[in-house]
Amino acid sequence: MKNIAIIAGDANPDLARAIARAADATMIAAAVAAFADGETRVRIESDVRGADLYIVQPTSTPVNERLMTLALLADAARAADAARITAVIPYFGYARQDVRNRPGEARSAGVAARILALVGIDRVVALELHSPALESAFAIPLAHLRADEEMLAVIRGWNLPDLAIVSPDAGGAKRAQRYAGALAAPLALVAKTRPRDDVAVAVQVLGEVRGRACLVVDDMASTGRTIAGAAQALLEAGAREVHAAFVHAVVAPGALDRITSAGVQRIAATDSVPCVRDPRLEIVPIAGLLANALVGLAGEAPPTQRR
Ligand code: R5P
Repeated sequence: MKNIAIIAGDANPDLARAIARAADATMIAAAVAAFADGETRVRIESDVRGADLYIVQPTSTPVNERLMTLALLADAARAADAARITAVIPYFGYARQDVRNRPGEARSAGVAARILALVGIDRVVALELHSPALESAFAIPLAHLRADEEMLAVIRGWNLPDLAIVSPDAGGAKRAQRYAGALAAPLALVAKTRPRDDVAVAVQVLGEVRGRACLVVDDMASTGRTIAGAAQALLEAGAREVHAAFVHAVVAPGALDRITSAGVQRIAATDSVPCVRDPRLEIVPIAGLLANALVGLAGEAPPTQRR
């Protein structure tokens, strides 16, 4: 077996295989099935005793099933005596529920992070968590990657003159600021409110966008309402054209229609989650980024003590 052993969960096996190719890693076969009542059953089908094992599983739709599959695979690997188990989570579901916004709510992101530690995962590799503050929710070591370089390469290829980088809400301002700095473009921000779950309303554009090609950057699109609302507000404020780039395409049915109907012309997103094949969506591959991270981590000594 090569130094790095990879198990593909059931959420994005194409990405897991691409990472394995780029990292020159061994793929470990694992079966994921479901009983008639919906219970998940997993089985690792090769010997992983002593292996430096990486389980690739974004916890995307259906989030609970994907999270449970990851937990079960980790438990199976622990029982089979893998030397070290790293969960590679290109998209971490529940991340948006990182704080208790209203009394009575759960801190669901923290719960998801604790489950990973409980099942014996030694460390996590995550890509673009919704908020950097979420890093503190992990009791185990976390490598938190950004896809800036990969996204910026695609955006540079678009050759957009008079570019302005726009964050569609306050939470994404730091990402937009990084992109604006890298592209030497001015920064603008759309103030957004959420009157209820999955509804986003753009209330104000802050910054000069008149006559500019505006690129809205975000961590993810789900319903597409955040980006669509921002696009409408930007066009009303005099933007010449609007484009969008987001890291995680957890797009619900109808989201791309909503985004393009709002006037967004170019759309780019990574393949952190299995993407809808749609000519309107330009895919930014991230297997190389994750493979490099795994190769770097593989040199570290395995843990000597188990929880
Ligand atoms: C929210 O704070 C996130 O950064 C995204 O803006 C949001 O999750 C996108 O969701 P939707 O596409 O449903 O508006």
